[in-house]
Amino acid sequence: MTALSVSTSSAASLRADALVVGVAKGPKGIVLAPGAEAVNEAFEGKLAEILGTLGATGAEGETVKVASPAGLKAALVLAVGLGEAAEGGYGLEALRRAAGVAARALAGVKKAALALPAESAEEVEAVALGGLLGSYAFGTYKGNGNGKEPVGELVLLTVRKGSKDAKAAVERATAIGEEMNRARDLVNTAPNDLNPKSFAAIAQAAGKEHGLKVEVLDEKALTKGGFGGLLGVGNGSTNPPRLVKVAYTHPKAKATLAFIGKGITYDSGGISLKPAGHNETMKCDMAGAAAVFAAVVAAKRLGLTVNVTAWLALAENMPSGSATRPGDVLRMYGGKTVEVLNTDAEGRLVLADAIVKAGEENPDVIVDVATLTGAMVLALGTRTFGVMANNDELRDNLHALAGEVGEQSWPMPLPAELKKGMTDSTIADLANMGERMGGGLVAGLFLQEFVAEGIDWAHLDIAGPAFHESAPFGYTPKGGTASAVRTLVRFAEQTAANGKA
Ligand code: BES
Ligand code: MN
Ligand code: ZN
Repeated sequence: MTALSVSTSSAASLRADALVVGVAKGPKGIVLAPGAEAVNEAFEGKLAEILGTLGATGAEGETVKVASPAGLKAALVLAVGLGEAAEGGYGLEALRRAAGVAARALAGVKKAALALPAESAEEVEAVALGGLLGSYAFGTYKGNGNGKEPVGELVLLTVRKGSKDAKAAVERATAIGEEMNRARDLVNTAPNDLNPKSFAAIAQAAGKEHGLKVEVLDEKALTKGGFGGLLGVGNGSTNPPRLVKVAYTHPKAKATLAFIGKGITYDSGGISLKPAGHNETMKCDMAGAAAVFAAVVAAKRLGLTVNVTAWLALAENMPSGSATRPGDVLRMYGGKTVEVLNTDAEGRLVLADAIVKAGEENPDVIVDVATLTGAMVLALGTRTFGVMANNDELRDNLHALAGEVGEQSWPMPLPAELKKGMTDSTIADLANMGERMGGGLVAGLFLQEFVAEGIDWAHLDIAGPAFHESAPFGYTPKGGTASAVRTLVRFAEQTAANGKA
């Protein structure tokens, strides 16, 4: 993993292979962003002009390389675009994205220094996090020489080193960035390697490393406990299901949050098999479980004054002679019965069991995170997750927090009339499918049926942003993105700061 450090050295004297500066679109051509002063001096004040000659415009995502003059220790200067020049400082998301673009462009380089705007603690954190996320590469299956190594070391240049808040900002960025990259690794791991059992083992090992309590319910314990949803979905696979509980507790905590993640390590659709073209990326169907796991470890690393319990609902959805059939009725944890009309609507089944189980501990809030429906992708596109809740204030709060940390989300309703198709089952309490229209909301309404009275609950449908299939942008690579991790961590921080959820 890329190493991150802070330094107050001047950009001119720091020993590095490359120096990164920011450029933006000004009213009269490109302008240099704060942080670039010393580098510009080495170019005798002509850096903007030279970059313009090389075609730089300052557009977001753009990179232009120029060889250094004498007077700089680094041989290469990389200018990264920040978008429109801003009077009162650049937005934090623009800084995260620019640092991410630069880090990715410098793959193969040993040591790079970031001379980007980094005056406030928030700016320091944004540049640090963007750099860590942008340098991410998944190399597990690539032979040596089949791809450039990620940049080895990033040195963040700031005028703030030594001040306590800058150091804390880099520590925060490191904890969150490393855990997000862990979530990305889990999502990117091939489904023949990551199954419910191996995922649970990874959770146990990481829990041990960070001093978190991890409990695993295996298929025997699930059978004994009557977890019909997890067992029904896992039936068709030779890899049996698991329910994993990861608990972080703080002695002074005044509130407890339960985060529940959909962890389908592969979603073939089951007997209602997905056609070719719809199953190649379905290893990503455990991204919710990866997100809640990353969030609880990050909460621990940050020492937040709040209790966080992550529940990973892990199963593999496969067709076979022992698979659940469309038409089967499952008895869920807690006793409700569900008629399975489509085995591809499996996420809500494993989540329902986990929601009832988590509810027994009476948390202040339950938030589930799931790659739940294609309908949500149709509604919001591939970069925005939907936020639903049984409490409008909670829904709007999570949407606002997502915006603060640079995650795109949108509040969605849970219209009661859409429940009808599901409650119409002639033989069970509920069917696992209802109205086709508004399918993302129907799935949310199904989950809501399993939330105990009096508990605030929210549901994040991350089916769009969890797995990025087109060209990388900002700090987002191809593949797993760690969608929702930052929103969850921010929510835990807010809860800790308020002393209540
Ligand atoms: N895992 C899928 C949803 C999904 C789709 C995630 C695209 C990521 C990208 C989920 O299990 C599923 O198959 N949902 C069905 C539900 C339907 C059968 C009611 C869907 O959305 O088509
Ligand atoms: Mn499915
Ligand atoms: Zn699924």
